[in-house]
Amino acid sequence: MIKANQQKTWASGDFSVVASRIVLVSELLAESADLRAGSQVLDVACGNGNATLAAARSGAHAIGVDYVPALLEDGRARAVAEGLDVEFRLGDAEQLPVADDSVDAVLSVFGTMFAPDHRSTADEIVRVSRPGGTVALASWTPDGFIGQMFKVITSHVPGPAGVESPLLWGAEDHLIDLFGDSVATIASAERTCVWRFRTVDEFVGFFRRWYGPTLKAFDVLDEQGQVALAADLADLARASDRNGDGGSIAIPAAYLESVITLK
Ligand SMILES: C[S@@+](CC[C@H](N)C(=O)[O-])C[C@H]1O[C@@H](n2cnc3c(N)ncnc32)[C@H](O)[C@@H]1O
Repeated sequence: MIKANQQKTWASGDFSVVASRIVLVSELLAESADLRAGSQVLDVACGNGNATLAAARSGAHAIGVDYVPALLEDGRARAVAEGLDVEFRLGDAEQLPVADDSVDAVLSVFGTMFAPDHRSTADEIVRVSRPGGTVALASWTPDGFIGQMFKVITSHVPGPAGVESPLLWGAEDHLIDLFGDSVATIASAERTCVWRFRTVDEFVGFFRRWYGPTLKAFDVLDEQGQVALAADLADLARASDRNGDGGSIAIPAAYLESVITLK
């Protein structure tokens, strides 16, 4: 039930529009993972394929898995346009449609963090990875801008009870705990992804229209609640804007980039 609701949330709005603003995160992650041409790479919770395509641009055979069919269709169109060696499969991050020990590297950009059962997700990544494989993850940090945005949203519309916060994936200790004895080495660095908008109102409207979690939060509120949530998001954007001159805004959003080598 929780997962079915989450799937509907990600299928709402149009994440492809949001994904176009974070392409760089996938390109940097693929570079940090030091992918080898000819290797097998899996992108978990791939959306419309930013990291899948980044891997394919490195000469890898890339498989993207996500549970929103429309995003996979968008990914297929992008791959055709670029003539890339890519396969997209419909599936759940907690039950990957991928054979044991078959993948040289797993990538996930703001993806695995949203599966409700963190441990099953990590176990699945280890199951499909060959011994000595690489796992490269990008996850929003709890104190970064998107982490704070989630906190603003859940202060208006609480998340489902009993589900661990996705933001835990933005702390290296949590990853060490999840991947446990399978970790040979782990290296993490905090990076920032900058969100740029002409105005604060454009920022609020963008996330309200295109980003499923924000769209659904507005949907369940009455008119007064919607006004209050929009005002709090606008305040957060103003407080986080590094331009600070009342014109266009630039918001640095911190995320953790982690590269794990498996035993
Ligand atoms: C923030 S988006 C990131 C998409 C993509 N990785 C990117 O960087 O553009 C989160 C993605 O995770 C997918 N997702 C969330 N939970 C999932 C699950 N349990 N199984 C498969 N996909 C999932 C959503 O459908 C969505 O495409």
